[in-house]
Amino acid sequence: MNVKEIIKDIFYVGIDDKKTRFFEATWPIPNGISYNAYLIKDEKNALIEGGVKVDYSREFFRKLEKIIDLSELEYIVINHMEPDHTGTLPQLYRLAKNAKIVVSQKGKELLADFYKITDSDRVIVARDGDEIKLGKRTLRLISSPFLHWPETMMTYEETDKVLFSGDVFGSFGALNGRLFDVNWVLDDYLFELKRYYTNIVGMFTGPTQNALKKLRMLDINFIAPSHGPIIKDYKNKVFSLYDKLSRYESDKKVTIIYGTMYGYTEELVSVLALRLYEEDIPTSIINVTNVHPSYILADAWDSSVIVLAAPTYDGKYFLPAYNAMYVIYAKRLRNKKYAVMGSSGWSGKGYLRVIELAKELGWELIEPVVEYRGAVDEEEIKLVDELVDNIVSILKKG
Ligand code: FEO
Repeated sequence: MNVKEIIKDIFYVGIDDKKTRFFEATWPIPNGISYNAYLIKDEKNALIEGGVKVDYSREFFRKLEKIIDLSELEYIVINHMEPDHTGTLPQLYRLAKNAKIVVSQKGKELLADFYKITDSDRVIVARDGDEIKLGKRTLRLISSPFLHWPETMMTYEETDKVLFSGDVFGSFGALNGRLFDVNWVLDDYLFELKRYYTNIVGMFTGPTQNALKKLRMLDINFIAPSHGPIIKDYKNKVFSLYDKLSRYESDKKVTIIYGTMYGYTEELVSVLALRLYEEDIPTSIINVTNVHPSYILADAWDSSVIVLAAPTYDGKYFLPAYNAMYVIYAKRLRNKKYAVMGSSGWSGKGYLRVIELAKELGWELIEPVVEYRGAVDEEEIKLVDELVDNIVSILKKG
């Protein structure tokens, strides 16, 4: 097994997970994911991150022990306590008998909660700006709470100017040897970075902005996140994307999220989409039955207008469509205008349920609500025309 030295004396000791189908048992990862960890060799050796997911202990320890005698590990710096990065920690803690764990104050509490590690002589609590001298190199700890847990921090290595950023700037997708960003196709990479941000970190836009403000003061050559490739060439693009997403800045585009059982809603959606195309409005059309909410959330995040279209089902909103909207609601997507097209069914107006969610998010409704029963007729087409005029006028104004 080859252990890659990414920068002189800094080694990649993370692993690829190509077995798990859903990250956090929720988000699809058809191309896998990496759990990154880094070893810095110096007079005092430091592991950045607590390790990897427990399922991959054997591979992780084989890598680590290939380049270091564990009794010579001095520090285990834990940027984030979530078990995808600390599952191997109890074993490491036992084997690396001279190592001290470096965590934030909140991290110390989670360390006790998750792993019952409480020895005060082996746990160092780091405050914002604290430094750890390794020898030639110095690590500076940067507090970045709620990205995306309360204890999260980042670690900055001053000599080569490497920011170990934890989950921030992470992306889905196994590395398959592509350790640096430039080894990835840019659009594919940015899409998986965006999906990771919106799915995992996105609820914490305020903390993201706070962190970006701090990071702008640093001279950074490399960003080494805990998932996905090391960022060097695409650094400015990644920063801009994070800034845009965490400010809820939208493109002038429409995302239509629709469900259909027998094609009536789909027919109306086609009329709407065609009219939007005629007006040169970029539009995504997503069928909730076929697309996981992970992708819907990522698509909707930077759209100016969301159209929710679905039938009534058992007096409620069509279940897969409700599920998609509930994920958007749970992730607190803000600053949207939205429209609703829904069948009234025979026993109630299911779409009222998603209007409640949109209201709670502070979204602004674009009239008219297009309501229909069964097959679509001229009256509804007229309403769609009116809706498109209103969407176009909003997008042209904004
Ligand atoms: Fe990658 Fe929040 O753990």
